[in-house]
Amino acid sequence: MVISEVVRRAARALPTPFLIMDLSIVRENYRRLAESLPSALIYYAVKANAHPRILETLKNEGSYFDVASRGEIEKVLALGVSPQKMSYGNTIKRGEDIAFAYSLGIDLFAADAEMELEKIARNAPRSEVYLRVAMDSADSDWPLSKKFGTDPEHVVELARYALKLGLCPVGVSFHVGSQSYNPHRWDVAIEKAAWVFKKVREFGVNMWLLNIGGGMPVHHTKPVPTVEEIAHVINTAVEEHLGFVDHLRLMVEPGRSMVGDAGIMVSKVLLRGRKPSAGQEWVYLDVGVFHGLMETIEDFRYEMVVDGKENGPKKRFVLAGPTCDSVDKIYDEIELPEDIDYGDIVYFINAGAYTTEYNTRFNGIEPPNVVFTDDVEQMLELEMLTVEAKGEIRE
Ligand SMILES: Cc1ncc(COP(=O)(O)O)c(C=O)c1O
Repeated sequence: MVISEVVRRAARALPTPFLIMDLSIVRENYRRLAESLPSALIYYAVKANAHPRILETLKNEGSYFDVASRGEIEKVLALGVSPQKMSYGNTIKRGEDIAFAYSLGIDLFAADAEMELEKIARNAPRSEVYLRVAMDSADSDWPLSKKFGTDPEHVVELARYALKLGLCPVGVSFHVGSQSYNPHRWDVAIEKAAWVFKKVREFGVNMWLLNIGGGMPVHHTKPVPTVEEIAHVINTAVEEHLGFVDHLRLMVEPGRSMVGDAGIMVSKVLLRGRKPSAGQEWVYLDVGVFHGLMETIEDFRYEMVVDGKENGPKKRFVLAGPTCDSVDKIYDEIELPEDIDYGDIVYFINAGAYTTEYNTRFNGIEPPNVVFTDDVEQMLELEMLTVEAKGEIRE
């Protein structure tokens, strides 16, 4: 991994931890997906990284937005995005928040349970709903289907129930699991969704919306398929399995793949210690599970670089965060430079997604700040990049 000079200089000058984001990469990711899936509307999954500058960048590219709560709706709305460009994709919503969304003009909601349909019917009468089918999330690093979606047969029942409640069951959604490594999963999922489309036709419902969720991966430590390869599978599967649907609208909800490789988490070593009876050496950083690295609780593996010690000998450590909780352990085993030391800068590569959104202030420790490469570049030009300059580039 080549870390740019801008990032390295920021790492030396700014207090850590911080997430440094490059908006030109976000733009490029959006354009590649739009070109690969020309028939799809792109709804950015705000949950991946809801920083206003990221939302604004995507808004300027023409993105729609998948929102999960009133808070996310308000963030997107504050940027002047029309409510018609939002979909309320969380299957677990407060009744009041559905009413709030509806009052703004949002009329597209997700559901995977009867009670959710009842809430939508009460608070957003006659709205359009798409119903989430559970998918096997094998081949993904962050499975979602254990919690979300339901059996295809149940989805058919939900469509019938939605009709009875006066709602418009317009389509099916799924998610193959976040950070999915296998493009074939989208083919399987689209075939399953097509089965629902056919079944509901038997009682007069002509669905026209297929929401293929997110799931496109970002490069970490294993090879990943490209967005073009995944899109090819999707386009082929839609043609093969859903060719019978007139005017099918395809909707995609990328989160990770829009912002993941646009960010680097920059941290520092706070402590190195030994536990002789366990035969362990530990390294503790100023980031951890409660300060941006939440996904490591499922052993999500980031590529890591220790500044200036990339090429030396390595040894095995336990890696942990700074808080007073034993859950705040990043990796049980990780190879790091054997001379890693207090104050060393540690980069977590491609960490732009699902990091700062999970931040807490546990133990009174401030979460990582978010900074942008264009601001840093400007400050370097103006020779303003000192520790004292931090306040000026905070969000
Ligand atoms: C409904 C929904 N859509 C889209 C996404 C984004 O998925 P990804 O970040 O894998 O692209 C998620 C992730 O949790 C989701 O729950």
